[in-house]
Amino acid sequence: MDTTAAGNLDIPADIAATLVDPVAYADHRIHDSYRWLRANNPLGIARPERFDPFWVVTKHAHIQAISRQNELFHNADRPTTLTNQAVEERVRKITGGPNLVRSLVQMDAPDHPKYRALTQGWFMPANLGKFEARVREIARATVQRMLDKGGACDFVEDVALGYPLHVIMEILGVPEADEPRMLKLTQELFGPQDPDTARSRESLSAELFSAMMQAVVADFSAYFRKITEDRRRNPRDDLATVIANAKIGGDYMPEHDQTSYYMIVATAGHDTTSSSTAGAIWALAEDPAEFAKVKANPELIPGLVDEAIRWMTPVKHFMRSATADTELGGRRIAKGDWLMLCYASGNRDEEVFEDPYRFRSDRKPNRHVAFGYGAHLCLGQYLAKLEMRILFEELLPRLKSLSLDGEVKMTQAYFVNGPKKLPIRFEVN
Ligand code: HEM
Repeated sequence: MDTTAAGNLDIPADIAATLVDPVAYADHRIHDSYRWLRANNPLGIARPERFDPFWVVTKHAHIQAISRQNELFHNADRPTTLTNQAVEERVRKITGGPNLVRSLVQMDAPDHPKYRALTQGWFMPANLGKFEARVREIARATVQRMLDKGGACDFVEDVALGYPLHVIMEILGVPEADEPRMLKLTQELFGPQDPDTARSRESLSAELFSAMMQAVVADFSAYFRKITEDRRRNPRDDLATVIANAKIGGDYMPEHDQTSYYMIVATAGHDTTSSSTAGAIWALAEDPAEFAKVKANPELIPGLVDEAIRWMTPVKHFMRSATADTELGGRRIAKGDWLMLCYASGNRDEEVFEDPYRFRSDRKPNRHVAFGYGAHLCLGQYLAKLEMRILFEELLPRLKSLSLDGEVKMTQAYFVNGPKKLPIRFEVN
């Protein structure tokens, strides 16, 4: 990791510190760091205290180049999300490997394509079309509840959090009564650094953090064990039935893999979609001209959806590790090196996006990397876009005006983050 083709590539310590500081993702300082890195050191090495050193990949082209070379850059060999040394050590003691779960994200070939194929068809637009009417019903009821608030609400609390959760639980086959439990577990898993959602409000020691994560995984495991037993006895037309009965090489998946599969499907789809949905409303509430433009041109709604996903980029990073010595962008990357793919930076890359900080529903093309790229490209991207499109098709025609009604607050997390409070005022048509 010390040898580079182009001299010392360490990034300044103050910038490296923001990359591992959950608060910097909540107060937007992270975007200043990304901007500096793209301009001055687009593929540099961060050496923040308590973390193994890692390459920081901030350019769109480099993120794509690494993501498409899945043999050369693995997911499973090191932690797939940023993890400090103490936590990694604890995780290794618990599981014998660098990650707590083994979902699609923590797999490489040959397992990854086999496991992904089990549900790929389910997530394709041709199959999702079957659920469109039901998603629209959920969207309509959600919109009505918001309008009934009478002119003001917290869009995150009242709309964005519950809606995608409800959709994915319905598709998965989890009863509505269990949704609050799923929501809490997801927030603990994805945003564990945020004091509002973490199990413990004390400063998180490595012991506390890994104990907390273990408890979350155990909760998920116990819950989905029952679902599996049920769906093997009584198959239904839901995704849980597909996962429960899926076979790899003639046998059911090992239990740990199966729990991980349920977990990724149950968790990956709602905080991410809810942050992107809130992002769209935030942008429209701040820009009356953009709001008027989309209202007058509903055919812009799919563009609004894509732009909100780019603009918010709720998944801030995934990590990869090099399986061999290689060269990229004039840097020498050594076998075993760890790399952080900064999607939110790639999505503000001035070389790819004109006026990248502006929110433009008519942005075309919009080749963002918010869903990643390559073999691990988000499995749920069509579902996320379908849910968001339908919600805005139901909501926007009902609104006459929209504005912010207080300060927007973001979650403190360096993996998945987005608005946690979005107070808005609105008038109804
Ligand atoms: C993977 C983002 C919604 C399920 C990913 C990845 C990203 C991402 C960045 C990693 C891609 C890579 O490594 O190249 C998002 C965003 C969403 C969203 C921004 C919403 C706007 C969903 C939904 C689901 C879902 C609704 C459905 C349940 C998955 C799964 C993977 C994944 C299963 C792992 C795929 C693999 O490793 O093969 N997502 N996601 N996501 N996402 Fe999403």
